[in-house]
Order: sequence, then structure tokens, then C-alpha cells
Amino acid sequence: MQLNFLWRWAIVELTATSTTPHLDAELLIADALGLTRAQLYSQPEAQCLSADQQRSIQDIVKRRKNGEPMAYLRGEQEFWSLTLKVDERVLIPRPETELLVELLLKHCPPQKNIKLAELGTGSGAIALALASERPNWKIVASDFSVEALQLASENLQRHGLSNVELRHGDWFQVFGTYEYFDVIVSNPPYLGWGDPHLSSELSLAFEPKTALIAGKNGLEDLEKIIQQARAYLPQSGQLFLEHGSEQASMVTQLFKKYGYQAIQSYADLAGHLRVTSGKWH
Ligand SMILES: C[S@@+](CC[C@H](N)C(=O)[O-])C[C@H]1O[C@@H](n2cnc3c(N)ncnc32)[C@H](O)[C@@H]1O
Repeated sequence: MQLNFLWRWAIVELTATSTTPHLDAELLIADALGLTRAQLYSQPEAQCLSADQQRSIQDIVKRRKNGEPMAYLRGEQEFWSLTLKVDERVLIPRPETELLVELLLKHCPPQKNIKLAELGTGSGAIALALASERPNWKIVASDFSVEALQLASENLQRHGLSNVELRHGDWFQVFGTYEYFDVIVSNPPYLGWGDPHLSSELSLAFEPKTALIAGKNGLEDLEKIIQQARAYLPQSGQLFLEHGSEQASMVTQLFKKYGYQAIQSYADLAGHLRVTSGKWH
């Protein structure tokens, strides 16, 4: 079969479930054939595909049609300035989460040797982005998923970053009694069990539920972190948390309840309040 016929078939197949059928088809076919997108465009009508090539393209297009995210199908995702390896072991890093990285770089003086902890690192996106920008920071990144940490470790090696230490365990259990961090940051699970996004966003069905869901209303892990972080923050230490776009006021209340000061919420590029921070006194 000629490449251009299969290409057209792929676009038609993907139109039902993808908002970017042309781009998806291009990337999946280029990956399957080991070509760049430019090479794919050079002579589509002249390229005749083998039966194996045809089958592998049809298989991957069907998986995409069933809603499997592009990042899992391609095995990687861009975050900040890094290309990260991702698969079903971790949540796919979202562009919105870059707001956390941006805020931390802005609020922490670059020359200061900050000690920072990231809780629930998944693919390592936040910790690695910070480590790549601030080689002088000492970063501890943790997760309770061994599989996620294996992937974070692969990403660390891939980018040759030596200032991140990975630890395995439930939230604060990974820290010693008198271990303090200038900054603690987390993008914890924050969807409630019955959150409508879980049924309306097909791609969420493929991501680990333990990375997405936190109790009945999605606030369980956020509250735990806000409450327990106080034992690991020095005077004026800061906690930065990502949360759902409708949770800013509830998260602010939790920061107040546990005695934080200088509480502030920040909007992402779409104008949604996605991050809240507070200072421990
Ligand atoms: C929303 S994902 C964030 C992943 C990554 N930091 C990012 O922003 O793309 C939440 C992460 O928290 C981890 N997690 C969930 N419950 C945890 C717990 N009790 N202790 C430690 N990590 C936990 C999950 O395994 C997952 O990797």
C-alpha cells in the first residue's frame, strides 16, 4: 500500500476522537517508519509500505482512536525545556504545571543554595526542570510509586542531572525528623472520586488513578501536605501547591487553617488560579 493512502485513512480514523487528527497521524506514522516529519512529506506518493509497516501503523492509529494519549504512544512528552520519557507508570506532565516551575524560579533567588523537596514527582518533570535551571539547588524528589521512581530515574540519567535525589515513600515519611527544606512543592492528586473530568476526558482513563484521585472531594492529599509540611519548613519556608482550577479558595482556607502566612494564588495562562503558596512562620 502507498503511504499517502494510509496517511489519509489515518486522518479520517482519528477525526472522531482527536482534536488534532492531522498532526497525530503525521507524528504516529513518522515514528512508525523511523522518519522525521520533513522526510514523511518529501515523497508520500512514491513510498510503498511493507505489510509489517502497514500493520504497525494501523495498530497504533487504532490505539489513538480509542483515546490513548499521544505521549504514551510516542513514549515522550515535552516539559519546560526537557524531553521526558513517559509511559503508563506516570501521569503525563501538563503544560499548566510549568506555572509551578516559573513561580519557583521567580520567587527563589538564583544565587541562594536552596534546599527543595518535591512530593509526588511522577516522571520527575518539576524536579528535573528546576534542577536543569538551578544546578546549585539541592533537590529531593519523592513518590510512593516504585514504578514512577524508576521512570524518574531514567529521566534523570537521560538529562545527566546530578542535583536531584529520589526517595521512595508516602508523602512525608521519606524525610528525617530534623530535615528542613527552604521550599516544598507538590502537584498532588486533586480530583474527587466522582469528578466529571474522569468520565469526560478519555485520556484520563489511561493514566494511573493514584496520580489523579484524592478522596471524595479531591482535597485529601492537599490538606495532608499543607498540615504536615509545617514540620519540615524552617522559619519563612514556603509551600507551593498546584490544585484544580476550582479549588483555589478551598486550598487558601486550608493554608489559613494550618497557620500559614502571605498566602497567594496564581493564575495560569488561561487565567485559572492553579497554584497557591504560603509561608510558614
Ligand atoms: C498529579 S501526579 C504529579 C506528577 C508530577 N509531579 C507532575 O506534575 O507531572 C501526583 C503524583 O503523586 C504521587 N502520589 C500519590 N499519592 C502519594 C503519596 N501518598 N505519597 C507520595 N506520592 C504520592 C503519584 O504517584 C503521582 O506521581
